Amino acid sequence: MTQATLLIRHGRVATMTGAQNAPADGPLGLVEDGIVAVAGEQIAYVGPEAQTRLRKAKAKPAPGEGVEIEVAANAVEIDAQGQLVTPGLVEPHSHLLFAGDRADEFSQRLAGATYVEIAQAGGGIVATVKSTRDAKDEDLVLAARERLGRLARAGVTTAEVKSGYALGVEGELRLLKLIREAAKGVPCDVVPTLLALHAVPPEMESRVWVEAVLKELLPRAVSEKLAHGVDAFCEKGAFGTDECRTVLEAGIRAGLVGHLHADQLTNSGGAALAAATGCGSADHLEKTGSVGIAAMAKSGTVAVLLPLAAWSLKDPPAQAPPFLKAGVPVALGGNLNPGTQRMESVSLLLAAGCVLAGMTPAQALYGVTAAAARALLLQESRGKLVRGLRADVVIHGTRDPAHLPYHAAVEHSRLVVWGGKVVLDLRKEPLRCG
Ligand code: NIG
Repeated sequence: MTQATLLIRHGRVATMTGAQNAPADGPLGLVEDGIVAVAGEQIAYVGPEAQTRLRKAKAKPAPGEGVEIEVAANAVEIDAQGQLVTPGLVEPHSHLLFAGDRADEFSQRLAGATYVEIAQAGGGIVATVKSTRDAKDEDLVLAARERLGRLARAGVTTAEVKSGYALGVEGELRLLKLIREAAKGVPCDVVPTLLALHAVPPEMESRVWVEAVLKELLPRAVSEKLAHGVDAFCEKGAFGTDECRTVLEAGIRAGLVGHLHADQLTNSGGAALAAATGCGSADHLEKTGSVGIAAMAKSGTVAVLLPLAAWSLKDPPAQAPPFLKAGVPVALGGNLNPGTQRMESVSLLLAAGCVLAGMTPAQALYGVTAAAARALLLQESRGKLVRGLRADVVIHGTRDPAHLPYHAAVEHSRLVVWGGKVVLDLRKEPLRCG
């Protein structure tokens, strides 16, 4: 084995290698009193301390049982003190680059107006399109960086971020570039997604916009390597299944990972479309029925549930058990955006996954790690603590996974390793949750 440059010792290590639909702590793949050895940017070894022998670089091999780990002379050693150690968290669905505020719509909804009624009256996505188009680059970047920073503080080491608030060829390309700019200096990988079909641009017919996306925007986003994924909002009042299909197929053919805002407000066949086109994920799914679930199970499409958005809209949230029962992995997304979901707390998302979407704490944790990485088709590089994957690791201020959703709206990460480097270290504060 290559020399370890960083060791996390005596952790309660949740490798996330169990099955998500296993009972109790099954999804966690727990290693009690475990060690995570990191070499450079990658995980080199994960296993029980008792089965491991550490040898300082250049020291003679000591006889004995177990796996020998050679440790670099200047290696960083961290004692996790029995606390929960997980992979870096993955945010699979966000719209965190935007300008403006729609608190007025929140108040209107509380007074009885629906999301659709507000959009029809000129609010909704196009209201944010106007403020985002008008905003200066530096203001968009600073605001997005602050939001990304809060995610990183919570232990998120990979975050998907969608465009979709410019709705013009140059504007959408600008947003994709600004998403990367916003990530500079934040210890979190961003995964940009082109969400050109988010709403029909106010100055154009839907048909004209779809054509511009297919002929110009998508090819340029691909050739300039600005996007990892392609997404669309399949819904009455947004885009129909045929329009979404053409854009998803073109994007996936060009090498992007497909995602679809599916069946959020009505069961419009979105889940089945995401499955048929080979999307990595179908997201929302509040209104998906058994046909859509069966199609997703067959295609291996991940369900990204966004329970905080359903809560904020006062809609019935999608339920995880029917998906899990059918064998569909269920990820949880924060869906940070100015319209349907403005809360920024990973522990609150875990709580919503449990209380609103019917997951166990272990399933919810799987939903923000292994399943979320798979939704982005990044499961070969992150989402689990296994040899060869990126060394993105979080030590939490508790040993109990249930504490995270139970003690929600407080972030519990105490130490974060991103690509093999310690990027957050609160060891001077107690390692336990207060
Ligand atoms: O995922 N539903 C579409 N997109 C966002 C909402 C965007 C907005 O209202 O600004 C969502 O909930």
